[in-house]
Amino acid sequence: MPNQPDVMDKLVSLCKRRGYIFQSSEIYGGTGSVWDYGPLGVELKRNLQERWWSEMVKSRENVEGLDSAILMHPRVWEASGHVSGFVDPLVDCRNCRKRFRADDPKIKGAPGTPDAQCPACGMKGTLGEPRQFNLMFRTFMGPVEDSAATIYLRPETAQGTYVNFLNVQQSTRQRIPFGIAQIGKAFRNEITPGNFIFRTREFEQMEMQFFVEPGTDMEWFEYWKSERMRWHSSLGLAADRLQFHQHGEDELAHYARAAFDIQFDFGGSLGFQEVEGIHNRGDFDLSRHQEYSGKKLEFFDHAGNRKFLPFVVETAAGPNRILLALLVNGYREEAVEGETEGRVVLGLHPSLAPVKAGVFPLVKKDGMPEVAKRIAEDLRRAFPVFYDDSGAIGRRYRRQDEIGTPFCITVDGDTAGSGSATVRDRDTLKQERVSLDGLRAYIGERITA
Ligand code: GAP
Repeated sequence: MPNQPDVMDKLVSLCKRRGYIFQSSEIYGGTGSVWDYGPLGVELKRNLQERWWSEMVKSRENVEGLDSAILMHPRVWEASGHVSGFVDPLVDCRNCRKRFRADDPKIKGAPGTPDAQCPACGMKGTLGEPRQFNLMFRTFMGPVEDSAATIYLRPETAQGTYVNFLNVQQSTRQRIPFGIAQIGKAFRNEITPGNFIFRTREFEQMEMQFFVEPGTDMEWFEYWKSERMRWHSSLGLAADRLQFHQHGEDELAHYARAAFDIQFDFGGSLGFQEVEGIHNRGDFDLSRHQEYSGKKLEFFDHAGNRKFLPFVVETAAGPNRILLALLVNGYREEAVEGETEGRVVLGLHPSLAPVKAGVFPLVKKDGMPEVAKRIAEDLRRAFPVFYDDSGAIGRRYRRQDEIGTPFCITVDGDTAGSGSATVRDRDTLKQERVSLDGLRAYIGERITA
């Protein structure tokens, strides 16, 4: 297994400094494990989600899109098993009042016994007995705060899809096998969040539920496993940082018959961690919703003149985690030949990079800024560009390298005569002269997937 360096602290600082990611409510001291996406972060996340949507929905005739609500009928979560089963064992320290997962390896001794030592304050005998803690956030619908009004913030998007299975199937006239995909927020009151945006309490999911005939589920499971791994590679994530992890019997979620994670090596002590799960959920969810709602959710197969409850193969990815993987994967520090100062580069795939090109006049005279501004204006109609005329040209290149901009266009003394500008490639540092008329096509070709 390759041992990748730990770049997390450097990334947290870069992300704040350059406007990728800020701590939520920072001026009030921050909200625990909740993050805001700044001007560059929101572009990167949208580009990533757009790539997923395009791959999973737009390019497939047998997958439909959906955007279901975060707030759902409370019975949904009883049916799904989340009210009773979406729990982690938790222990409290009576001394420092910190909370830990009962199976936290940093706890010495068995919680609840006099020998157990709190990993935060170091006191012995202060850790209580483990108790089950539900990870769903609860809130109240309407003005009355009683148990009848209790609802939950969804902990996964999947249930919104299951309860809409027949709505989508009948309105689109899709036939089994077909899928329903959606991107949306999910909330989990994680006991041990952390590692920047890796595990947070508010996050997003990109989930697709593929409804199949029972008996064909393992075939489809294998199909989606390989499709999803191919997609992660297509984002530019290094092959030696990606792997499958098969869930053993003791790891399987309450709904899963089989499950594989796609893991990415985040480096340092975090190492390989899940970025996406592929689950064979059988008919667990549809049959539970049938039972709890009293409404049939069977698919009617006209050709065979029979009804059946489909099985589900789910692909469940987290854009926040994948975004972190992209940053970790892309971050590098390099020496620059002939210069004392090195450069920091975010080697993001050009289709994902928030800014596609920096546009600079070499100097602020001889009409160069005017030409460069015109180029930037023209290109901005097709993709995001950044005009910059402040500081030495080397500095301007470095600023773009650090945020992952794949190309920098420089208008120089030859531009007026030749009708061309130089285009510098972020990774190879090669410079090419490209005619001003051809710039849009030149960059456009290179930033499409
Ligand atoms: N519907 C199935 C499901 O929710 P999951 O493995 O619990 O499966 C799917 O979640 C993906 O959602 C994970 O692979 C991860 O990328 C993302 N995810 C889950 N919990 C998260 C958290 N607390 N913070 C950030 N991302 C999370």
